[in-house]
Amino acid sequence: MKKNQPIEDFKVAKDPFSLVIFGASGSLAKLKLFPALYELAAEKRMPEHYSIVGYGRTKLTQKQFKERFEASVREAIEYVDEDALSAILKHVHYHAGNYDQESDFKALKEKIAELENNENTVRMAYFSVPPSAFPPIFDTLNKVNFNTRKSKLRLVIEKPFGYDLKSAKKLKKMIEKNFKEEQIYMLDHYLGKEAVSNLMSLRYANAIITNLMNKKFVSNIQIVAMEDRDIEGRANYFDNVGILRDMVQSHLLQILAYLTMFAPLEPNAKEITKEKKRVLRSIQLDPNSVVRGQYMGYAGKDGVPKASQTETFAALKLCLKHPLWEGVPIYLKSGKALKQKWTAVVIEFKPRRAQRDHGELKPNRLVIQLQPTEKIEFHMLTKLGGQHFAFHEMTTGRPIYCSGDCLTEHGRLFLDVIDGSKELFLSFDEIFAAWRVIDPVVQHCEQQACKPHAYKKGGLGPKAADELLKKDGFEWFYSF
Ligand code: BG6
Repeated sequence: MKKNQPIEDFKVAKDPFSLVIFGASGSLAKLKLFPALYELAAEKRMPEHYSIVGYGRTKLTQKQFKERFEASVREAIEYVDEDALSAILKHVHYHAGNYDQESDFKALKEKIAELENNENTVRMAYFSVPPSAFPPIFDTLNKVNFNTRKSKLRLVIEKPFGYDLKSAKKLKKMIEKNFKEEQIYMLDHYLGKEAVSNLMSLRYANAIITNLMNKKFVSNIQIVAMEDRDIEGRANYFDNVGILRDMVQSHLLQILAYLTMFAPLEPNAKEITKEKKRVLRSIQLDPNSVVRGQYMGYAGKDGVPKASQTETFAALKLCLKHPLWEGVPIYLKSGKALKQKWTAVVIEFKPRRAQRDHGELKPNRLVIQLQPTEKIEFHMLTKLGGQHFAFHEMTTGRPIYCSGDCLTEHGRLFLDVIDGSKELFLSFDEIFAAWRVIDPVVQHCEQQACKPHAYKKGGLGPKAADELLKKDGFEWFYSF
């Protein structure tokens, strides 16, 4: 058994809940939410009473929706527990409707009230929809008074939070009109990944990492999130957003914050947010240090307009005006349809004098791989056998197995919402700070009408992204 923590310590959903998923016929629900809910059922972490209600514009019968739910579980999970699957399917329902139709939401509300078995039921509304659908949903929820006092309503909102700073501020206003701050859970699923929260823990617990992580020793940092998948039928969403808003503004800047922030005084939501905000607000990014790319075959296919200039790839260089990191270049890179799925942080150390004297020697590196598997690697130098004063590179590393209360990201985050824990959710201040970084880049591109660099599917992205580092005397490092 992989878990060495007593099973009774594992987090479970204690309170009964009802969960409405807006956008239940979309790809996020299929790829992430349904398998995560199944996992909770298979691990016996569900309460006795709960219901999952999918809501979407696509007309589906109950049977069709359950078939979709089941298919998504079978696709994602290698060994399905048949009893757990048929048990959860009994709790799954579907309701078709529009996002701006009062009558549809009234019917939804009645259905949920029927399903909820007592007044203590936690009611969750999950926004698995693009930002353009947020305003009508909020509006209609208010009109039908979904936020009754009896229901402990919690709103779970998936990134991206708006398209820019202005729309994010508008979103905040809209939410605050009818809901209290404690009802809102702003979700970036990367924060639910064990590997991402481990970035902070690794620094907390290891002097060899903590003491080296600063401008005195580090020459540059690379944060890379490559995906082999292309946009796979998500043109409607993706073409309006692009990789800068889809991946960089959220996931990559959050990884950066966890990696570089001062250790919080206490590992609680308030202190963690404070330190993350300090990093995000200290980011200095020149829009000319951004390379945008688009994979060949993107424009004009599968619903993408022929003239689309949306970037499916971005690489950028930034710096932090932060006491620990001033002067250290930090490079971010993310793209679709690349060689393989690989998410990692590479910390490259400044050469020692002896290394500089042997001009050919490679720098030491610490590689923290987050996906597809978690791994930590030190790239060091060791003596080459024989009489010469010569070295060769040695890599020492280990996979990091999750042992203990392990769950995939959305499962963990669902339990936190039911439980009312906010450590792994975002604050509006962080979101605003991240938009302040990305907005000028997007605006710069619009003003200059800059075209993204074309790149071949299955590679490492456009050459211009390599030039970005070459100018500073570095190169992207991959450990696959
Ligand atoms: C989502 C993005 O937030 O994250 C997708 O919208 C992306 O475009 C996905 O594919 C990547 O998540 P993960 O967990 O597979 O790395």
